[in-house]
Amino acid sequence: MLKIRKLYKSYTFGSTIVPVLRGIDLDVQTGDLLAIMGTSGSGKSTLMNIIGLLDKPTRGQYWLEHKEIIRYNDDELAAIRNQKIGFVFQSFYLLPRFSAVENVGYPLIYRGISQKEIHSRSMIMLEKMGIADRAKHRPNELSGGQQQRVAIARALVGKPSLILADEPTGALDTHVSKEIIDLFLDLNQQEGITIVLITHDPKVAKQCKHHITMEDGVFSCY
Ligand SMILES: Nc1ncnc2c1ncn2[C@@H]1O[C@H](COP(=O)(O)OP(=O)(O)OP(=O)(O)O)[C@@H](O)[C@H]1O
Ligand SMILES: [Mg+2]
Repeated sequence: MLKIRKLYKSYTFGSTIVPVLRGIDLDVQTGDLLAIMGTSGSGKSTLMNIIGLLDKPTRGQYWLEHKEIIRYNDDELAAIRNQKIGFVFQSFYLLPRFSAVENVGYPLIYRGISQKEIHSRSMIMLEKMGIADRAKHRPNELSGGQQQRVAIARALVGKPSLILADEPTGALDTHVSKEIIDLFLDLNQQEGITIVLITHDPKVAKQCKHHITMEDGVFSCY
């Protein structure tokens, strides 16, 4: 599914260069469920954003489904991102003026699909997430767990081959976190969706097929 070799990322502030990723090698197979752990500031989100084509490495190689990412321009990258990758973040990033079902359908707007089809596909995803009865509500009328379910439905609606989740339960209490993690485990086990998930919770990481720890921009155990 994805292969990364000798990946580096640094940020430049004036004349100072701050290295964040310092030579990452990573292989994720189709159907994998990988948890990335590591202290705050170790570079987890930076790596996730590069994997998700939201950011570019300073150097190194990255293949997504056997295609080397460096060959694509920004428009092509945006299209690949829209088709192949679903994102879930700690702070759900739902559009406040849109209803749950409209939020879910948002990624499909750019795909030339009819309104009716978008609505019905979005409703199917909300049903799957167990919140179809909340379809017409706006995000501020939903609980944190419900909002994250909407965000997961939105991540899945375009049938991506890869789900990237950056601390998806970071803003949720223990009980709701468990429900959300169980949803990810089901998606991986029942539907074979490849998932890379950042978490601070060792219990969550242990439930995943693979888990690795990042320390100062490199994997300390792999
Ligand atoms: N856009 C940016 N510009 C400059 N520095 C950045 C930028 N994004 C991240 N950094 C720096 O890179 C380092 C790694 O950040 P990153 O967000 O990847 O950490 P993280 O492992 O996800 O941490 P956390 O667990 O707190 O989310 C930090 O020192 C951060 O300050
Ligand atoms: Mg982070």
